[in-house]
Amino acid sequence: MLCDPTATIRCAALVHSAVQARVAGDVNRGPEQEFALAHTVPGRAPLVPELTLRLASEITPIWQATEDWLAERNVDPPFWAFAWPGGQALARHVLDHPATVAGRRVLDFAAGSGIAAIACARSGAAVEAADIDKLAIAAIGLNAAANGVAVTAEPGDVVGVPCRWDLIMCGDVCYEAPMTAHILPWLRAMSREAEVWVADPGRAYLPRDGLAAFATYRVPTTLELEDRIERQVTLYRLSG
Ligand SMILES: C[S@@+](CC[C@H](N)C(=O)[O-])C[C@H]1O[C@@H](n2cnc3c(N)ncnc32)[C@H](O)[C@@H]1O
Repeated sequence: MLCDPTATIRCAALVHSAVQARVAGDVNRGPEQEFALAHTVPGRAPLVPELTLRLASEITPIWQATEDWLAERNVDPPFWAFAWPGGQALARHVLDHPATVAGRRVLDFAAGSGIAAIACARSGAAVEAADIDKLAIAAIGLNAAANGVAVTAEPGDVVGVPCRWDLIMCGDVCYEAPMTAHILPWLRAMSREAEVWVADPGRAYLPRDGLAAFATYRVPTTLELEDRIERQVTLYRLSG
């Protein structure tokens, strides 16, 4: 059973298939965007077929890259090349209930591909997306452009910064003990000034207190990624 997405970035030789796609209006790409393009193809997450995202696939199997291969290139596990169940559930909820975000300042925290951020932008929010992985920031730029929306991608760790948002959404963030311990006190503090949504598919480190469920989604997954074909994701409001 997979409860840690890190374990899904499986170890085998990387078969490099450089599938490039042109993103309208984005001609001045940096090395991170070139890397993201080279190791992904345009795809759609099953629960959110209306958005197009750069995703890993059988022909760009970065998800099979060895830890050594990633380390040699100073590349973190490519969480950004997947739409995780939590992000898909957030995006689905927002697209089906646009009034929940329209006109609000939203942060997609630990955004990965930016799927939730893009859904929020499409629904009329002013959106920032934060991720500590510079490749995620590059992928968010590509994905936002491909969907014709504006998302401000914030590189680095926003944990500890004062609240400047009305709503913070967190998809699939409780999969590692150190990460959860790092982010949760800040998210709880943020919940006194903003709404904080946590979308969780049953990860090991989801806290037991201060969570009020308000929606559930069944998200199709793959055996390769999650060791099962579906995950139930619960959307919670976090309180401090
Ligand atoms: C499992 S992925 C989820 C991505 C996205 N929310 C989704 O559901 O598809 C977790 C993401 O958290 C990011 N992350 C880890 N620690 C972080 C931190 N302190 N601040 C921002 N992002 C972080 C990782 O780089 C990764 O992209």
